[in-house]
Amino acid sequence: MNDPLIYARAAHYAATLSVAGAAFFIVFVAEPAFAAAGAPTRLPALLRRRLALLAWIALLLTVVSGAAWLVVVAQSMSDSSWAEVVSEGILWTVLAQTGFGRVWPDRFVLACLLAGMFVPFLSAEGVKSIPIKSVVGALAAGLVGALAWAGHAVGGAGIEGVVHLIADFVHLIAAAAWIGTLLPLALLLAAAGHDPASVAIARVATLRFSTVGIGSVGTLLVTGSINTWYLAGSVSALTETDYGRLLLAKIALFLVIVAIAAVNRLRLTPRLVHDASAAGSAAALRQLRRNTAIEVALGAAIIAVVAVLGTSPPGFEALIHAHHSH
Ligand code: HEM
Repeated sequence: MNDPLIYARAAHYAATLSVAGAAFFIVFVAEPAFAAAGAPTRLPALLRRRLALLAWIALLLTVVSGAAWLVVVAQSMSDSSWAEVVSEGILWTVLAQTGFGRVWPDRFVLACLLAGMFVPFLSAEGVKSIPIKSVVGALAAGLVGALAWAGHAVGGAGIEGVVHLIADFVHLIAAAAWIGTLLPLALLLAAAGHDPASVAIARVATLRFSTVGIGSVGTLLVTGSINTWYLAGSVSALTETDYGRLLLAKIALFLVIVAIAAVNRLRLTPRLVHDASAAGSAAALRQLRRNTAIEVALGAAIIAVVAVLGTSPPGFEALIHAHHSH
């Protein structure tokens, strides 16, 4: 198991899903929830600062971990020393002449454009401009979706190749819209006090989050099944190969998070929304905080599994190999 590559991939997926997730959360959840406060509260200003800090740190980590991933791939492709990777120009060869490398400069440009747009988007007063929100949403979706060109989804032939690439592109955006927005939600729930204005913000935020969540979960299931069809393609590839068993572990983690999200959506959010008593909404808020923290940890576990999956030969290939070696 080539650890540097897996660590670089894990850090990069986590950072990229987090920067896109923070942008989606601000546009679709936080700012609409702040508008529903209904009374003066310090929560929006406090959260805008914390979400801005999260977004900037995640963007910086996206660039640094992306560079690390590139260097690790260049080193493993050339089997040269780390110094030679740069001094011998191996890095430029990987950037210019490999499918993996060619998407990196494009993603770096997207990251720089996003940094520029973050200045007005993450301002202390909050963002109202629809053009700014749309451009940031599109850049964030492009930055995370373009990872499809660095994974197993490239290399397919004909229309099937295009279908697989598009499915993986959408899969990555849905992953950011769900798992990437969990940490911002945890920050919001952690900062929400028990004053009526904060509870009103938490109510709207959990309702909007779970509506976005339902759409993302459905999209992950459909695009994940397409990915599974192209990269495993049979039950035996799922059960008889390391790749397949790892993918089954990922799907099991996914089902656990969906179960927790269902409890949040069907039991705790209605209590937060409808229970007028301070004690009732406080208890619901406490349980939502705990469940969201558990979902963040499970989301991190899924990203760790994905980091390993992409370095293993796909299930269908591993199965053919296993059958030939017997
Ligand atoms: C919380 C839910 C999920 C998250 C956060 C998630 C995230 C990801 C990410 C980041 C990738 C890497 C894509 C790439 O670089 O090309 C990926 C790949 C993949 N996902 Fe998911 N996914 C989720 C759910 C699912 C589900 C439910 C399935 C199956 C039904 C699935 C099947 C796959 C497959 C087969 C791949 C390709 C792995 C590879 O060989 O590189 N995913 N997923």
